[in-house]
Amino acid sequence: MRKLLLLLLSSSMALSASAQNTAELSTSPSGRTISKHVYGHFAEHLGRCIYGGFYVGENNTKIPNKDGIRTDVVDALKKLKIPNLRWPGGCFADTYHWKDGIGPKNQRPSIVNTWWGGTTENNSFGTHDFLNMCELLNTEPYLAGNLATGTVQELADWVQYVNFAGESPMSKLRRQNGRNQPWKVSFWGVGNEAWGCGGNMKPDYYANEFRKYSTFMTNWDNSTKLFRIASGANSADYNWTETLMKNIPSNLVEGIALHHYSVINWNKKGPSTDFSEEQYFATMKSAAFMEELVNKHIAIMDKYDPNKKIALVVDEWGGWYDVEPGTNPGFLYQQNTIRDAMIAGLTLNIFNNHTDRIKMANLAQAVNVLQAVVLTNEEKMILTPTYHVMEMYNVHQDAEWLPLTVKTNNYTLGNDKLPAVSGSASRKNGLTHVTLTNIDAKAAQEISINIKGAKFKTVSGRILTSAKLQDFNSFENPNKIIPVTFKGADIKGDVLKVKLPAHSVVALELK
Ligand code: AHR
Repeated sequence: MRKLLLLLLSSSMALSASAQNTAELSTSPSGRTISKHVYGHFAEHLGRCIYGGFYVGENNTKIPNKDGIRTDVVDALKKLKIPNLRWPGGCFADTYHWKDGIGPKNQRPSIVNTWWGGTTENNSFGTHDFLNMCELLNTEPYLAGNLATGTVQELADWVQYVNFAGESPMSKLRRQNGRNQPWKVSFWGVGNEAWGCGGNMKPDYYANEFRKYSTFMTNWDNSTKLFRIASGANSADYNWTETLMKNIPSNLVEGIALHHYSVINWNKKGPSTDFSEEQYFATMKSAAFMEELVNKHIAIMDKYDPNKKIALVVDEWGGWYDVEPGTNPGFLYQQNTIRDAMIAGLTLNIFNNHTDRIKMANLAQAVNVLQAVVLTNEEKMILTPTYHVMEMYNVHQDAEWLPLTVKTNNYTLGNDKLPAVSGSASRKNGLTHVTLTNIDAKAAQEISINIKGAKFKTVSGRILTSAKLQDFNSFENPNKIIPVTFKGADIKGDVLKVKLPAHSVVALELK
């Protein structure tokens, strides 16, 4: 009886929408664009991300591919409009010697992937394979250079190899390997997590190293327009950002990175599907912390760079849980539930709303690793809830940012609370888009948005949710969670009212 009462109570809570959330949407020209590169992805030589995920080999007759690259994955990512793809790591980047991955495949050396499972790989996926794949995906490559175990010469040579059109030893080598025209890669990481797997360096030491590497990647005035990204802070390590900003001259750096994962506890991450509400809440707390993090890192950057020339690049973010039972612990393979959809919706709203400084971000990782958008199993491929959120939000790519100020109820659990509703808005080609995420595990939230400066006649939209937070798409049931038409929005005069069910992501179009 008690159980029944509790059940009735919780379901009525899920249906009854609270009316206290309010927001204001300003439609005057903001002069700010949400960089499409905030919707970037990441592909590391880790587990089954590259091998088995993107690349199955040229001789694979079971899985449809073009030059060894899976056609299903390419098609899915093209639909997502992924703007850039970071490669080859992560931690792997500081062990990677790019010359191992060029030339005839049967002559490439095999290497051991020390960080990720200690597996031996044969380097059959290298620079040409990655950059040609980016062309297939219609995305911009972001190459992560090796600063820790490489040399300045090695990185300078890589830049020359992929970017130089004229005659030089490196462009000659490229041509010998079958590629005449350079690929023109703008985005370059200079080391990764230099405070950890990238060399356990101190920030001032790394800043000096960065200055040296960065100097030889281009010329006096960076006329080759490289976008050089310094290895950034581990989450709340504000001293790292401060030291880099203080010690790296602004003519040597275009972006400073930041890594933050939504993790409950690094020693006890918890399962990716069978989690409790307490674990869900802890994940949301870590995801919501991104707001404080970026504000504090940005405040430091503003001190040294008030004109906001240097970008904050959040080139690793996402949920991190225990690996799926029975899988290699070094492969970081995890399922993806509505909890991950909440991380994505909330995080992307934060990024959109800091568009004046956050110019790029990369979800970790694209395929089969951590908060993946695509999972593969041999010839099967599925799209995760995170994929669908990224797709729903891609209307914001390169759109004019519009300020949406949300006053939200709290999502409470015990004595702890978090803001329930987050949102962001933009305008492109005469259409205004609003994305809203309600992370509340139990309660629907009604929000009343006051629109300033424009009259809209219609509102339409899509929603992503599911009965349970723990729901996911599986290879047996791949479409359990997909976006569907949303009927919970209504516009009257200047007021847009939206009923957001518990744990849902909604994308609206106003005309
Ligand atoms: O994304 C997985 C790993 O997380 C990356 O290799 C590393 O940079 C980070 O610690």
